[in-house]
Amino acid sequence: MACVNSQQPSYVVDWPRPLPEVQAALQRAFASGDWGRYAGQECEQLATLLANMHGNQDVHLCSSGTLAVELALRGLGVNAGDEVVLAAYDFPGNFRAIEAIGALPVLVDIQPDGWSYAPEQLERAISPQTVAIIVSHLHGNVAPIAELCATAHRAGVRVVEDACQMPGGSIGGRALGTFGDASVLSFGGSKLLTAGRGGAVLSHDPLVMQRIRVFAERGNDAFALSELQAAVLPCQLERLALDNQIRHARANYLRSLLIDVAAIRFSSLPDNSLPSYYKFGFRLNADPQQSEMTTARQQLLNRFDERKIPIGAGFRGFVQRSRRRCRAVSDLIEARRAASDTLLLHHPVLLCPANVIEELAMAIRACF
Ligand SMILES: Cc1ncc(COP(=O)(O)O)c(C=O)c1O
Repeated sequence: MACVNSQQPSYVVDWPRPLPEVQAALQRAFASGDWGRYAGQECEQLATLLANMHGNQDVHLCSSGTLAVELALRGLGVNAGDEVVLAAYDFPGNFRAIEAIGALPVLVDIQPDGWSYAPEQLERAISPQTVAIIVSHLHGNVAPIAELCATAHRAGVRVVEDACQMPGGSIGGRALGTFGDASVLSFGGSKLLTAGRGGAVLSHDPLVMQRIRVFAERGNDAFALSELQAAVLPCQLERLALDNQIRHARANYLRSLLIDVAAIRFSSLPDNSLPSYYKFGFRLNADPQQSEMTTARQQLLNRFDERKIPIGAGFRGFVQRSRRRCRAVSDLIEARRAASDTLLLHHPVLLCPANVIEELAMAIRACF
């Protein structure tokens, strides 16, 4: 991969990569004459490949990961007035997907050492109105999805596993996106697998898939992925496992180069998990005053910006959302912290050689 651009520091890397395979795939779709269609050979091939990667689940391709979350919830039978549990720190669209159905988001606090929630927190959140939960694998930190599924299922609650940030990740060799009752993927423009836009819902449950297809059918397939979008994904899927290994090695190397920087901390990973990195997240070390933390982070981000370091702020989270719009299970202290102290390195640099990671580490160090 060409990581070095003479005008820029070598850690400034464009995405998506100008892969010749993508160009060839586009030309193939063009030559077939089918490139204006929604459901043709390209979509079929993509759905088959995704199914193979994800335990032979049924696959519904759609127009975005955001919509995939809503479709998954609808597929699991979530209706207006039901409750859906999610982390108080999560992708903003997941809160909106629950609201789009007229259901009520229920916020649970996250673990101090990551961005996901623990089974004990989930147990406290479940009420007789709870129909589903959303579990997102975020920022290179694999969620305890098997344990959360077990807790949810004991209570008769179903699980949306959001793997939009982590395609190709795994726990104990089992692919992320195979744990939930329905799972979702994103093919957005900055994502590890990109079609510019797009997403997918996967499930083994025929009723879930039928509900999704009925909802998506509005006289035509209203939220479809196009043939042209589908065409560019199989060649990216082919490289995903190797790319994920490289990103993982580079992320670990960067962590080792920064481990002694007192102002930041990294989360630990369960031994048997292999994450993939849409973002590589880390945290500024806790400060008693949250407002001061937000200011300190902004000052740091400004310094990153001056050096063109591709690190941004994490999600804002939902702690501030009006309690008319959601129910909160606790004071959400960790989610509040994460909203003010999370930093996210964007993934493209993680495919660069080790010397570029070293240059990046030096530039980051110079900002403290
Ligand atoms: C965890 C998570 N879920 C869902 C989405 C939505 O995906 P999309 O951008 O394809 O709508 C994102 C996007 O960044 C995400 O990070």
